[in-house]
Amino acid sequence: MFKTRSTQARWYTYASPGDADVLEEHSGTLPPPLEGHATVEVITSGINHMEVFLRNGKEQTWADDGWPRGSGSDFAGIVVARPPGESRFPVGSEVIGHVRTGAHATHLTVPVSALVPKPRNMSWEVAGGLYLAGATALDTLDELRIGRDDIVVVSAAAGGVGSIEVQLAKHWGARVIGTCGDRNFDYLRQLGIIPVRYGDGMVERIRQVAQGQVTAFIDNFGKDGKDIADALGVPDSRYRSSADRREVELRLLREDPDSMLHGTTQLQRLAQLAQDGAFRLLISGLYPLSDIVDAYQDMARLHSRGKIVLATRPVTTYRTLRARDVHEAMA
Ligand SMILES: NC(=O)c1ccc[n+]([C@@H]2O[C@H](COP(=O)([O-])OP(=O)(O)OC[C@H]3O[C@@H](n4cnc5c(N)ncnc54)[C@H](OP(=O)(O)O)[C@@H]3O)[C@@H](O)[C@H]2O)c1
Repeated sequence: MFKTRSTQARWYTYASPGDADVLEEHSGTLPPPLEGHATVEVITSGINHMEVFLRNGKEQTWADDGWPRGSGSDFAGIVVARPPGESRFPVGSEVIGHVRTGAHATHLTVPVSALVPKPRNMSWEVAGGLYLAGATALDTLDELRIGRDDIVVVSAAAGGVGSIEVQLAKHWGARVIGTCGDRNFDYLRQLGIIPVRYGDGMVERIRQVAQGQVTAFIDNFGKDGKDIADALGVPDSRYRSSADRREVELRLLREDPDSMLHGTTQLQRLAQLAQDGAFRLLISGLYPLSDIVDAYQDMARLHSRGKIVLATRPVTTYRTLRARDVHEAMA
């Protein structure tokens, strides 16, 4: 029996460029999904810096989009409607998905080609934050062909993208050095990553722990990365800048069929890698969807560990203290 009913939904949009407080909640009815689409009840949805750049105008790709504009690219949820004749993802399927924008919602309608099954052993928190950070990490490591002969340095190694990159690079046999603040030494060490504090003297500190020639450098943070990579003797071909990362992220958001297929393929690989235990994504901030502004303000402080994720059905809206906040308060 196919479900083709309309769905009541809430979603966030913004009608002018700006900070997160331009986001406004709306509610309405989603029409039944058309051929090749499904309506998903969102359980969790990640937030990303690229959404901020698109919203505040720093990123001009899609600057010609009409207003108001949606927000959010990563989501995990349950299929609640699909059209007659669609055989993939029956109603009730637990899925992870990606969309250029519009994931910050209780429900959304997407092409089924943008969905993959959520592994049963993956939490909703992790599934909802997986797409853009994870696929960016995977694309970057694929391009560099990171493997067992590598000694790789990753900047902002405790962040959303960096924490996935370092774990996958290690999984594929590389010796991995991650730059971070003091607060994240234990986190990286327990992942098997060699932590190095960023800031003055970093080149020397990296040399001290590298035990050989550094062969690749991934700069997530986007400050003085090229100088450091040059000082370490990393060839240009094995250096990835923040500008390179921008290109990777934009490709992962494009909606042409090849880009969509690529995004879904990478999402499927990520789900499998997570299921295999190749990496564990830490969620260090889980906010109710209605606290979306607070969630973006948390991310803007640039010290989140792993990912920050929104939840449409949090068990409680009570805010528990986070380990990273305890450290900040004592520092
Ligand atoms: N080029 C682009 O298009 C593009 C796109 C997206 C993001 N970015 C930038 O890439 C960075 C990381 O992205 P993300 O998504 O992983 O962000 P995230 O999850 O917010 O990560 C922030 C990380 O940045 C680290 N950090 C803070 N100050 C630093 C410094 N001075 N040097 C090195 N690392 C520092 C923090 O480490 P500690 O907590 O250990 O200090 C934290 O782990 C962000 O700064 C973001 O703005 C660039």
